[in-house]
Amino acid sequence: MHNAVISGTGLYTPPHSISNDELVAAFNAYVGQYNAEHAAAIEAGQMQALAESSAAFIEKASGIQSRYVMDKTGILDPARMKPRLPERSNDEPSILCEMAVNAARQALQRAGREPGDVDAVIVACSNLQRPYPAIAIEVQQALGIQGFAFDMNVACSSATFGIQAAANAVQLGQARAVLVVSPEICTGHLNFRDRDSHFIFGDAATAVLVERDSLAHGEHRLEILGTKLLTQFSNNIRNNFGFLNRAAEEGEGQPDKLFVQEGRKVFREVCPMVADLIAQHLAELQVPVEQVQRFWLHQANLSMNQLIAKKLLGRDAEPQEAPVILDRYANTSSAGSVIALHLNHEDLPAGALGVLSSFGAGYSIGCVVLRKA
Ligand SMILES: CC(C)(COP(=O)(O)OP(=O)(O)OC[C@H]1O[C@@H](n2cnc3c(N)ncnc32)[C@H](O)[C@@H]1OP(=O)(O)O)[C@@H](O)C(=O)NCCC(=O)NCCS
Repeated sequence: MHNAVISGTGLYTPPHSISNDELVAAFNAYVGQYNAEHAAAIEAGQMQALAESSAAFIEKASGIQSRYVMDKTGILDPARMKPRLPERSNDEPSILCEMAVNAARQALQRAGREPGDVDAVIVACSNLQRPYPAIAIEVQQALGIQGFAFDMNVACSSATFGIQAAANAVQLGQARAVLVVSPEICTGHLNFRDRDSHFIFGDAATAVLVERDSLAHGEHRLEILGTKLLTQFSNNIRNNFGFLNRAAEEGEGQPDKLFVQEGRKVFREVCPMVADLIAQHLAELQVPVEQVQRFWLHQANLSMNQLIAKKLLGRDAEPQEAPVILDRYANTSSAGSVIALHLNHEDLPAGALGVLSSFGAGYSIGCVVLRKA
């Protein structure tokens, strides 16, 4: 058995950002048009008027101030309210591949590695733009990597589940190094006409190079001390989009073919599960929680992260102990906890311990305990 390390991380941030005020202005313009169009029916009590959204609510309820997106114009057009990402020919790289390659190149560079040093690519994300050929194989080809590649999806926990798969392959000697890439265009499955959730998501891509310890020489290596995963079925975060939709015409275009959630229930049910899993994992590794200097948590909701950290530490976490990136990035699904890691680990001293943890639909929870080399 070999030891596995994270020897480099990478981040691709899309070129456009949307503030809460901009998003709410577009939403409220849509509401105004909708209510004017249906004024008679609303007046007669046959229809309900739509309520406006509020930037103050969004920041208070979630901690989100803005989000990066692959297309701003389409999302903010009250007549459209979804990104416009034109189809590409089969000879061009797909948009997910392009984002993934950007993040992957940075991870390789930080690890001081060339594509020839890597034996496998895992694209681990919530939404894959086609069933086949795998995006991972396209990324593999674009980077010039020999070996094998596959896609996997465990919603917001895709990256940590991917890191476990990569660590296993490295530990068993099946690969010297594995790239785990998480390109997320969450705005593609977000219902921008739904007041309860229109503010939740943003787009980004991350990459993590998992490498055999004895070969790695990246400057900021993080030893993987252990990984622990948990899933438990829940309908509280769900998306029914899929290849059988065309066989059930009655459901086509319905709201359940986009992201839907029971946010309150998710909050209540997932926080204790995450705190318990992390505590259990640390106990198994005989790491006292007080020795953990950093928690890179999934980035969905600020209060959720504060609550999880408090459950673990028995006190409020200091800002640097549980870094927040959702204020600028919003929820980027599987990329979120890795963005927090990417932007907040180089200052840690050798020997410092950290926990990377994701949580989301499934439910799915992932925990990776890391030690700065
Ligand atoms: C989504 C989330 C931010 C909503 O916050 P919340 O405090 O639970 O808010 P609720 O949905 O209960 O709504 C509270 C009130 O605000 C109102 N509201 C909802 N959206 C609003 C908006 N955009 N603008 C203004 N008011 C809004 C609701 O109508 C409700 O009003 P009421 O009390 O008069 O009924 C929060 O539940 C959350 O983040 N949950 C965890 C979700 C998560 O992590 N999901 C993982 C996804 S992968």
